[in-house]
Amino acid sequence: MTHQAAKLEALVNKNKNANPKKTRFIAITSGKGGVGKSTISSNMAHMMAKHGLKVGIFDADIGLANLDVMFNVKIKKNILHVLKGEATVEEILVPIEKNLVLIPGESMIRLNNKFFDGEAWAQSRNF
Ligand SMILES: Nc1ncnc2c1ncn2[C@@H]1O[C@H](COP(=O)(O)OP(=O)(O)O)[C@@H](O)[C@H]1O
Ligand SMILES: [Mg+2]
Repeated sequence: MTHQAAKLEALVNKNKNANPKKTRFIAITSGKGGVGKSTISSNMAHMMAKHGLKVGIFDADIGLANLDVMFNVKIKKNILHVLKGEATVEEILVPIEKNLVLIPGESMIRLNNKFFDGEAWAQSRNF
């Protein structure tokens, strides 16, 4: 492992069918919560998919992910399972609508549909 994002880089490179010249990444980020990242991401993804682009929306949050809630889908596994080697990227993809798939993040707050219990969460994740 050469740098902090080496695992993610390897995951991206694994998709050999993707044409890097045609694949575009748009990062929507901020250091502060509640500024509209999820709102603009989900709306952009929906509109781009509606216009025929093939869109994968990646919730890179591994603490307070909520795009699954915004798209009203139930998820079983998420990117944290992939990073820990417990699932493949293909296994966690959630179809949302035509041309749009969600790559879900982790929300420890909704873990097991209970309110966040830090100790239980850490144990469940072998931290
Ligand atoms: N352009 C906007 N105008 C008014 N309210 C907005 C706008 N964008 C987001 N909001 C509201 O602000 C709150 C936080 O938005 P959200 O997209 O969840 O932020 P973030 O993902 O950055 O934490 C939500 O209640 C959302 O409905
Ligand atoms: Mg958000």
